[in-house]
Amino acid sequence: MLNPFDIVIFGGGGDLALRKLLPAMYRAYQEGNLPKGSRILPTVREENKQKEYIETAHQALQSFLSAGEFNEKDWQAFSEFLVPVVVNVTDIDDNWDKLKAILDKDASDKSRVFYLSLPPAVYGRCCEILSLKALITDTSRVVVEKPIGYCGESAEEINGKIAQFFSEEQIFRIDHYLGKETVQNLMALRFSNALFENLWDAKSIDNIQISISETVGLEARAGFYDKAGALRDMVQNHLLQLLCLVAMESPHKLNASSIRTEKLKVLEALRPLVDADVDNNIVRGQYVPGDLQGKLVPGYLEELGEGSSITETFVAIRAHIDNWRWSGVPFYLRTGKRMNKRCAEIVVEYKPVSHNVYDDSVGPIQPNRLVIRLQPEESIQLTLMSKRLDNLEMQLEPVTLNIELSEQYKNGFHSDAYKRLMLDAAANNPALFIHRHEVRQAWQWIDPIVARWQEKGAPALYRAGSWGPEGADELLAENGHVWFNAG
Ligand code: BG6
Repeated sequence: MLNPFDIVIFGGGGDLALRKLLPAMYRAYQEGNLPKGSRILPTVREENKQKEYIETAHQALQSFLSAGEFNEKDWQAFSEFLVPVVVNVTDIDDNWDKLKAILDKDASDKSRVFYLSLPPAVYGRCCEILSLKALITDTSRVVVEKPIGYCGESAEEINGKIAQFFSEEQIFRIDHYLGKETVQNLMALRFSNALFENLWDAKSIDNIQISISETVGLEARAGFYDKAGALRDMVQNHLLQLLCLVAMESPHKLNASSIRTEKLKVLEALRPLVDADVDNNIVRGQYVPGDLQGKLVPGYLEELGEGSSITETFVAIRAHIDNWRWSGVPFYLRTGKRMNKRCAEIVVEYKPVSHNVYDDSVGPIQPNRLVIRLQPEESIQLTLMSKRLDNLEMQLEPVTLNIELSEQYKNGFHSDAYKRLMLDAAANNPALFIHRHEVRQAWQWIDPIVARWQEKGAPALYRAGSWGPEGADELLAENGHVWFNAG
């Protein structure tokens, strides 16, 4: 069991804190993983917000926990952990001494986590004040949210500023995809099953698709999203992290340093896409109104309330990893908003058998396909060829081994990435957080793509409720491949 800790949530009244962080801590409490004596200290800017905070948190948990999770008895007990504090995070003359007094009282050797649920532009100043006010102890850690920066240069600036006050070991950069249990299962599948790992390279695999499709649109985040777009919002972090886990070599141990070293090697081996490569290997799109699961939804520009914007809400990329293991294997990365279905999955398409002993009359041999679905329901499917048993003639047909992982945990299992990551930060376990070098390397790959888009073209349009622009299908067709669209 974890030792008691204090977690200060800067931006405690914000959307992330109310929607994700408090529910995560509540779940930790319900599971018995919130040690007695711990405190959760959300900051708010005004006195009256502080008075109302407990009720705000109460309502947030009622709305954002799923049915059956919330109950008044647990809420009463959980609310005892909440200590809202008034602090203006960029104003050194504000209430900081009060926060320090609260933290120092009853401090002992408790670990202290500062969760910056704030715009990245103020990370630096907030860390500086923490240091000036002597709030940073040896057992302190700082948690920062993605996206770190807007480009390589701004990310370096932010990381550099934080590094003036916290050592790299104290900085926990979140990519919530790494906290998903199913994403960790990717490593478990690869590194504990000889069946997969021995067939996990260019000799056996034809192509790999990594796809995160969403049905949501702007979700009241227009200000942020229109500046970021799908490339910065999803590819720079979540998709590249998934790619790393799928493509990396086995870490020699499952510790932070070995895992991060192997992930970094993948990012370094990613073939750069520069100038015309960007046009030839990437399709960007923006949704227009369309029918999504039987409901007409507005287009991006209508949601944005602007006449024009060339921000992409969809990206499809053909990438290559230039190393021995993956030479010649295309990795297709895709993500988009307002797509046909919410789904995140990894599709591994194997090469055909080297010599076909069957003639065409028995049916074509389809290459094996492994589909690892991360969400919404977790499953693993392996498609194999098999003889039709109801036929005296030799006839082949594809059959699918289907493991519905979600079925195994019907009794109250709630995969909550933030819970896992917040508890890991409190326990000083950085394995599922991102190192500064990874952030730098990921931006190094993304920056030339943004540069090309700034000088050339605009996104292709796709209907809300579709699987993206036609160009994305054409991209794969050039290699004789097709997207595997979750059925
Ligand atoms: C966030 C992005 O990081 O991830 C959002 O900023 C996106 O735009 C979200 O909707 C998707 O996360 P999940 O866990 O719902 O797949």
